[in-house]
Amino acid sequence: MGILAKGHKWLVIFGGIYAAIMVSLMHPYVQQEVLYLRRVRMADKETLSNPAAFGLSPFKTLNLQLNTSDGEQLGAWHVLPDSLSRADATESAITEAFHTHPTVLFAHGNAATRAMSGRVATAALMPHKLDANVISFDYRGFGDSTGLPSELGMTLDAQSAFDYAISRGATPEKIILMGQSLGTGIMSNFARDLAERGVSVPPFSSVAKLLETYKVAGLFPLFSPLRALPQLRDYLFTFLRHKYNTAENLHHIQSPVLIAHSLDDLEIPAEHSIGLFRSQTVNSTTESQQLTSLTGHEFGVFEHADKPAKRGLLLTHKGGHNNVVWSEGLADTLLMFLSDDEFTYDPHY
Ligand SMILES: *[C@@H]1O[C@H](CO)[C@@H](O)[C@H](O)[C@H]1NC(C)=O
Ligand SMILES: *[C@@H]1O[C@H](CO)[C@@H](O)[C@H](O)[C@H]1NC(C)=O
Repeated sequence: MGILAKGHKWLVIFGGIYAAIMVSLMHPYVQQEVLYLRRVRMADKETLSNPAAFGLSPFKTLNLQLNTSDGEQLGAWHVLPDSLSRADATESAITEAFHTHPTVLFAHGNAATRAMSGRVATAALMPHKLDANVISFDYRGFGDSTGLPSELGMTLDAQSAFDYAISRGATPEKIILMGQSLGTGIMSNFARDLAERGVSVPPFSSVAKLLETYKVAGLFPLFSPLRALPQLRDYLFTFLRHKYNTAENLHHIQSPVLIAHSLDDLEIPAEHSIGLFRSQTVNSTTESQQLTSLTGHEFGVFEHADKPAKRGLLLTHKGGHNNVVWSEGLADTLLMFLSDDEFTYDPHY
């Protein structure tokens, strides 16, 4: 048998295995495992209760257990705003922090836990740049949380972080929902729920959202070989039970939304975010600003519209799939986005 024939045989075998995997993906359990990759933990449950072990400040980070409305327990960290970092974290100091400072609820991407380095960096940056509280939580089935992931369940997980902040004295107007990758889908679901229940009030005084787009097919590594066959990919994709419809959700939300994406993101092309922004601003006049760094490099482009709803798009030249969310450039752009003629970002109120 010639090398060519052998190669051909292997191609058939691998092709067969690949086809079998794709077929098995139609099974809900397999989807759940492959999509969320929650078993890739990289941090043990015991250590997760010690956020300082991952680099967060031992003086202003608390480990929490959030309780969901359907009986799950979630592992979470609460990082206090920087200006309170020297405060003793007594119960009354914590309540004070929620009363007097904004709160960022951070929903991470798929795989692993809140202890992944980029996620830790996000939880450290927001208290610093925004002088905000951060609640970084692990979804059900991830990290030290109980249960199994599902789109509906993970949306309830965001709700439990929100409820906790409110119960401690936060107001919805000063809560920023922040999602990365998969977390964007979760947060857009949750924001839509809030809007439909009438929790969010008019633009500029309501829940602000910072989102990156998430298109499940793009992050699903097994779908990559199908890039050349988009129709087949989309067909297979219709079998996925987990459909995060970010664009549709955003149409139901009046409050400000900033979408950030790096142009060198290889996992999910920036076109997804650009398309998402355009779908939100078809009836708007948008303004575009080139952002140049002090070193003279092009940092990116910031495009925004104020009517009918406040929407922003930050496209950075660098940052890949994971690094935009914890970059100071994003935090600065978020501050710029949230502060304008009608609303000034002021952490002290
Ligand atoms: C969740 O329930 C546990 C056990 O009942 C309790 O210790 C914990 O304080 C609760 N968490 C919150 C945020 O209320
Ligand atoms: C744009 O305006 C048209 C006509 O008023 C309306 O039907 C459509 O829903 C609007 N689209 C968005 C995204 O707001």
